[in-house]
Amino acid sequence: MKVDILLGLQWGDEGKGKIVDVLAPQYEIVARFQGGPNAGHTLEIQGKKHVLHTIPSGIFRNNIMNVIGNGVVIDPISFLEEVRGIEALGIDICKNLILSKRAHLILPTHRLLDASSEASKGKEKIGSTLKGIGPAYMDKTGRNGLRIGDILEKDFNERYASLAGKHLQMLALAGFEYDKKAFEENQKKWMECVAFIRTMQCIDTEYYLNDELKKGKRILAEGAQGSLLDIDFGSYPFVTSSSTTCAGACIGLGLAPSTLGEVEGIFKAYCTRVGSGPFPTELHDDIGEKMAQIGREFGSTTGRKRRCGWLDLPALKRAIMLNGVTRLDMMKADVLNEFGEVKVCTHYMVDGKETDQMPYNLHTEIKPVYKSFKGWGKLPETTSFDKMPAELKDYITYIEKAVGVPIKLVSVGPERSQTMVR
Ligand code: IMP
Repeated sequence: MKVDILLGLQWGDEGKGKIVDVLAPQYEIVARFQGGPNAGHTLEIQGKKHVLHTIPSGIFRNNIMNVIGNGVVIDPISFLEEVRGIEALGIDICKNLILSKRAHLILPTHRLLDASSEASKGKEKIGSTLKGIGPAYMDKTGRNGLRIGDILEKDFNERYASLAGKHLQMLALAGFEYDKKAFEENQKKWMECVAFIRTMQCIDTEYYLNDELKKGKRILAEGAQGSLLDIDFGSYPFVTSSSTTCAGACIGLGLAPSTLGEVEGIFKAYCTRVGSGPFPTELHDDIGEKMAQIGREFGSTTGRKRRCGWLDLPALKRAIMLNGVTRLDMMKADVLNEFGEVKVCTHYMVDGKETDQMPYNLHTEIKPVYKSFKGWGKLPETTSFDKMPAELKDYITYIEKAVGVPIKLVSVGPERSQTMVR
């Protein structure tokens, strides 16, 4: 048995939550391998919206084990809020959720450091979700971090005090102002949430996953954010702090590359980006505004409005190359129903030359070259691909040919049922 991976190929928010939920019945285990509460995976079940931040999207299915891998960073406060929300739906979360002892903790001071770092960047700010992700990963690579396994140790409180104290000194040096009373309260709440996590299944998930794999269990690794936000291959420094590409699944779960099977890449029929950083096909006009409104393009974690633009094939091809994508899912095709003309960026003009590679230098002017398609109008209420308008079929087959990977699934609405499998 192999581990399949599902990941976003753009700047996040491609609709991974919905697809994991659709695919989940084919798997016995769903595992998150990177990121943290900066993610927001939205699932719509029986008309009700659910947003998951740290917990894997298999949690709504009774017979699926969900694993938070070592590559994830966990904020106990936001984690417990999420747990309580899911429990309220009558789901026994403690039974179906396992946490890696090696997953790092986001401390209340990490959030303050995130805010301080962004404030110091002025116009160059990353547009971080301010969830403390960057500082938590910095402590991980700086070998100072605290992990889930540490909360089970006797000296945890001292180690916490030592690290938080160091952070407070850094904040004082930076002259960063914050509400001390609110921070103290937050710290108290954080400790209470840590106490709750102690009651959960905190184990060496790398052994668990490899053992289950040997037993023939089917595992789906669920990525967060998107490939264009990857710490190495994204538009650095306007990226997140983890490896969002498929190699991140090996590191973030303790699985060897030889265990990987299908790599399923998700992209929207257009592009969005939240936060700062380059976005070659961004539309600053009424068309972009219309996409944002119809697509309800507001961040599920921060509520920020997402920037919108046409589909960018050079960026998509790059993500497919970096991940070795074997099949594609195209999301939100229905959002473009009301557009008489739909465009796709096939190449860029960079320094007067046509290219389909993203340039290293972010300050370089990138001019997208577009191919135009006739819009497909309202879609019929069917999930049969054959009954779809010819214009939508043309759009899909063009993309498939351009990127060289089949589009196996097309989503035409937020519900599980609004999904065409080809
Ligand atoms: P951070 O990971 O919160 O520090 O944010 C770094 C950048 O990644 C910012 O531009 C965020 O808007 C973006 N980002 C982080 N997580 C997500 C996500 O789940 N979806 C979309 N963008 C994200």
